[in-house]
Amino acid sequence: MNWFKKLFASKPQADDRDPSQSNAYDLIGGEKTIRLIAHYFYQQMQQRPDTQSLLSIHRAPIADSEQKLFEFLSGWLGGPQLYQQKYGHPALRARHMPFAIDQAMVEQWLTCMEQAIIKAIKKPEHQQVIFQAISTLANNMRNKD
Ligand code: HEM
Repeated sequence: MNWFKKLFASKPQADDRDPSQSNAYDLIGGEKTIRLIAHYFYQQMQQRPDTQSLLSIHRAPIADSEQKLFEFLSGWLGGPQLYQQKYGHPALRARHMPFAIDQAMVEQWLTCMEQAIIKAIKKPEHQQVIFQAISTLANNMRNKD
């Protein structure tokens, strides 16, 4: 199965997903796995000494940020578009403009995400391709030299 090509090929709404068309969301274990990624991501951020400046720019309760990350990742990986249904178009770069995001901040974010992916996703080839794609997205959030 060429699941790599399907990774971003299908962006179905919650009610029109075709169960015969598997995509990254289904292949890595659906909602349960995505919730774990969001959970481990914020667990890492809170526990690691090297990601405390990233933690300190968060204003919302961590549980709320974790829920939003879960909802965003659900749609981004080809599952239900939970974030979009609640908040409209993600426009992620614009939503991150209030925060000064330099290269160091991007690296802290990716450190947490890499560990979360390794812990939540079983297959190394799935870990690798999702980490690569999310690295591109994360680098696009940089808004400060
Ligand atoms: C790479 C550097 C990044 C940094 C430093 C960063 C930091 C932040 C911060 C500080 C918030 C606000 C949380 C709060 O209000 O307490 C936030 C929100 C959010 N971030 Fe990021 N983020 C980064 C990349 C990403 C990426 C790559 C994604 C997607 C995979 C993402 C998804 C989100 C979502 C969905 C929200 C919630 C937005 C909302 O308020 O509706 N972030 N991020």
